[in-house]
Amino acid sequence: MDDGWWRQEEKQTKKKGETTMKQKRILTGDRTTGRLHLGHYAGSLQNRVRLQDEYDTFILLADVQALTTHFEQPELVEKNICEVAIDNLSAGLDPEKVTLVQQSAVPAIAELTVFYSMLVSVNVLRHNPTIKTEAKQYGYDDLTYGFLGYPVSQTADITFCDADAVPVGEDQLPHMELARKIARRFNALYGDGREIIKVPQELISQSPRIAGLDGAAKMGKSANNALYLSDGRETVFAKIKSAVTDPNRIRRTDRGNPEVCTVSQYHKAFNPEEYDEVCASCRSGAVGCAACKERLAERIDALLTPIRERRSYYEAHQDAVRELIAAGSEKAARIGARKMEQVKAAMHLAL
Ligand code: TRP
Repeated sequence: MDDGWWRQEEKQTKKKGETTMKQKRILTGDRTTGRLHLGHYAGSLQNRVRLQDEYDTFILLADVQALTTHFEQPELVEKNICEVAIDNLSAGLDPEKVTLVQQSAVPAIAELTVFYSMLVSVNVLRHNPTIKTEAKQYGYDDLTYGFLGYPVSQTADITFCDADAVPVGEDQLPHMELARKIARRFNALYGDGREIIKVPQELISQSPRIAGLDGAAKMGKSANNALYLSDGRETVFAKIKSAVTDPNRIRRTDRGNPEVCTVSQYHKAFNPEEYDEVCASCRSGAVGCAACKERLAERIDALLTPIRERRSYYEAHQDAVRELIAAGSEKAARIGARKMEQVKAAMHLAL
């Protein structure tokens, strides 16, 4: 993606006392359905940590979107608001820099969702490839209005605060395309030549998709095949030990095929310096799966050590985390209220 147009302005580095160009804003988020795992880390958290210095970063704790699939478990969704916040902070997001926002605490998101819903056809939503894949995955053949419409609500998430860009994985691209369409349509209909709703760009994360421990294509909260950021050392070793390897490599001395091995994929993602060597010693049969797994477990454990240290701090200060979420959400609600004034004025709905 060509994102040069708005990167350029950022390159002018700040000097003390100098007025600087306003920082561009990014917004991204997680559904609060469970703790975050290594797949989230490789796919998005790592990227967020990198981006937080450059952008005004909003992290959405998407509890309303969580309800689209978990409406029968509101307590679980509530519990995970704080868990997901702690996961993000433990991964290295700086509470001084980022704004944590609880989605349900921003009325503008709900209001915009209603207005946007007039601008999207049901057929477009039904043909959204990500909706289709997820509906299959969750076994839905009778979609709720809320689930089918979550990309509309996601457009509200992104636009209530004029986010310039959204760091996302590939599965979210159809939603970004829809978000742009809705924003353009809104502006064309009600903007009178102005951009009331900012048209957002995506910032695609280049990182690979992380397979599940069971060899499934994707590590997932619900699939029971995940290594969590909160897992302790022993759990890490036990889980890696159970990970699926090349099924044709039966004896220790057999030659293996790293292409079909989950463990080698993890080496590639989390131990890139040793990846070539790991593959070579698998192909020649020099190193067995058990030793290869130990090596990986050590590496992942080392990766998780600083994350665990930060976690234990935040877990001991949960009230402070809750306050942080409350403050971020209030700030977001104020920003959203201002946006709604513009939106309602443009739509001839002002009081
Ligand atoms: N749908 C996103 C996911 O499942 C989570 C999300 C909710 C999101 N609102 C968002 C991502 C707004 C980016 C922007 O990963």
